[in-house]
Amino acid sequence: MSARILDGEAFASQIHRETASRVTALAQRGITPRLVFIRVGEDPASRAYVSRKETRAKEVGISSHTMVLPESTPLATLLREIDTLNADPKVHGILIQSPLPAGLPNDQVYARVSPAKDVDGFHPVNFGKLLLGDPTGFLPCTPAGILEILRLGKIPTKGKHAVVVGRGQIVGRPLAVLLARKSAHADCTVTLAHSSTPNLPSITRQADILIGALGRPHFLTPDHVQPGATVIDVGVNRIADASNPRGYRLVGDVDFASVQTIAGAITPNPGGVGPMTIALLLSNTLRAAETTLS
Ligand code: GUN
Repeated sequence: MSARILDGEAFASQIHRETASRVTALAQRGITPRLVFIRVGEDPASRAYVSRKETRAKEVGISSHTMVLPESTPLATLLREIDTLNADPKVHGILIQSPLPAGLPNDQVYARVSPAKDVDGFHPVNFGKLLLGDPTGFLPCTPAGILEILRLGKIPTKGKHAVVVGRGQIVGRPLAVLLARKSAHADCTVTLAHSSTPNLPSITRQADILIGALGRPHFLTPDHVQPGATVIDVGVNRIADASNPRGYRLVGDVDFASVQTIAGAITPNPGGVGPMTIALLLSNTLRAAETTLS
């Protein structure tokens, strides 16, 4: 058996088309959504991610700009730049690319972004709204993108057992809450497993929906997977590869080649969760701009 591929590029294109048509409608009311990226330092992966997000923003008609600050930027300077963007009515969304250089306190930086412009969904107010089920908040883009993969991939979720492996702040923790919500495309029974979970395969083998979000290359193997399960791979891990000019290649948390022979449906990596994160970022930005009219 070979798993059905959950094509994140195709699903993301569908969302981009909807975003683009709402951007056009908003333009007729005199508003062009604008998203500003802040990149601190020259991390090559961050440069590539931000540039991809800028390209997609342009394709759907969202105006964007990347502010590049040196690695040595003091916290006070970064906070001042955020304050300026918060106060600028022409800016609807602000994204501070993670990871920040060591020494800059993540929590303090992300909490400085106005919740109304926090299209990443990292601000404590938006995190609280997620927990409360308040739909006026912004959902973090990767967990929201995974819900969209399940919806557009027509994966049944109601009453299904979802096992999320990884309890990180950006993906695992919020995703577990979203999957448990009482809503048409969630309503799962959720287990949040992590690096201290004993006998992990015995837990993950109970999953109808298995999500790898722990950041360990090729960690989930057929031993972890119930035949026919839906497997979602969030991981972006570097492994050494002398045959690659960069000296490394990127792999997921799932050993795709072996797991796809027993899973029922699976995300490719790349081409699964990554494009959906960008699609949800842009739809959050559009909504931030639309909200200024109400
Ligand atoms: N770095 C990797 N993914 C993300 C993301 O979704 N948002 C931000 N701000 N940084 C990231």
